[in-house]
Amino acid sequence: MEALLLGAGLLLGAYVLVYYNLVKAPPCGGLGSLRGRTAVVTGANSGIGKMTALELARRGARVVLACRSRERGEAAAFDLRQESGNNEVIFMALDLASLASVRAFATAFLSSEPRLDILIHNAGISSCGRTRETFNLLLRVNHVGPFLLTHLLLPRLRMCAPSRVVVVSSAAHRRGRLDFTRLNRPVVGWRQELRAYADSKLANVLFARELATQLEGTGVTCYAAHPGPVNSELFLRHLPGWLQPVLRPLAWLVLRAPQGGAQTPLYCALQEGLEPLSGRYFANCHVEEVLPAARDDRVAHRLWEASKRLAGLVPVEGDDPDEDPHPEDPETLPSPSAPSPEEPTVSGPSPGPRSSPDLTKLTQRIQMKAESAP
Ligand SMILES: NC(=O)c1ccc[n+]([C@@H]2O[C@H](COP(=O)([O-])OP(=O)(O)OC[C@H]3O[C@@H](n4cnc5c(N)ncnc54)[C@H](OP(=O)(O)O)[C@@H]3O)[C@@H](O)[C@H]2O)c1
Repeated sequence: MEALLLGAGLLLGAYVLVYYNLVKAPPCGGLGSLRGRTAVVTGANSGIGKMTALELARRGARVVLACRSRERGEAAAFDLRQESGNNEVIFMALDLASLASVRAFATAFLSSEPRLDILIHNAGISSCGRTRETFNLLLRVNHVGPFLLTHLLLPRLRMCAPSRVVVVSSAAHRRGRLDFTRLNRPVVGWRQELRAYADSKLANVLFARELATQLEGTGVTCYAAHPGPVNSELFLRHLPGWLQPVLRPLAWLVLRAPQGGAQTPLYCALQEGLEPLSGRYFANCHVEEVLPAARDDRVAHRLWEASKRLAGLVPVEGDDPDEDPHPEDPETLPSPSAPSPEEPTVSGPSPGPRSSPDLTKLTQRIQMKAESAP
């Protein structure tokens, strides 16, 4: 009997330790009111994204839920309007797996929304499910789509500076390793999927780093955020049916609720005085040092160049032969002589006094900086 009580006590003690160190998330601080500001949250119909959008709406922001399913997106917008008492929560269609959809979203957004103060890249997948693509779907949804979206929305972010971009990454980025010779190869089987997920989350950290460098002095800052281990559908929906009844209650017990997971992305979006830490990685509402692979500026820059090709932002001729030469949706490739009609410079209201950054010039600047470095 005594042994049983001791065992139960130890178990309870261990759970309390796990709960306070892992499960419970510190609440984010930051600005009180967001009235008059506009935020976009991708993948905001569930999990961390929905809770992030709820907090932004509660603080009075106009919140655009960028979701791939109209039905789920509209339902989430309805819920969030009810829960926050803020009617300025709307749905707009965005499927990050399709570059054409990303461009269509940007066109619609730029033509209807005069402001963009906060852009939160939250949407993500951990598996391809039953989808079979000829490219790396995990990298597309988790990194390339957000990369293109950032590029297209930058004029509006610059116009509304000080403004912020938050990329929801993961501690899994530590297991990532970017192999530029196979960056965009299709992913098959769960082992490859786990690897591709970690790689895409490393891409998130490197993207935030390079974006910060490129946007230095513009008033637009960016951050990579790890939400912690969260009880969401991200991994659970892909478990075999027989495992679900066991793992779902366990996940509820030992993982953070999505609201807790939203705290670090919210901290990065709202905390005052974070600007000097632009480009850094945050977890538990603190800046964290990352491993050398995640702070390698040359790799970050190489990824930026590869992402431009994968996102169809540059023509593929003269591609580095050891990199994947196939930007998908080739019909979305802008021709150098005829800019795409969806480019923000020609669609929607005027982006205002500050123009879109010339990525080629910025890239050249970075290249010169890298080359002149010892
Ligand atoms: N859960 C964790 O423990 C954890 C840990 C570290 C990092 N993260 C990161 O946190 C972020 C949010 O994940 P979560 O845990 O909240 O998972 P979730 O509940 O599965 O939410 C993911 C969201 O992304 C959306 N999405 C998926 N594919 C999309 C596409 N092609 N286009 C647009 N939206 C798409 C999903 O929409 P549908 O509902 O239509 O599928 C959903 O709204 C992800 O970036 C994830 O990598 C999560």
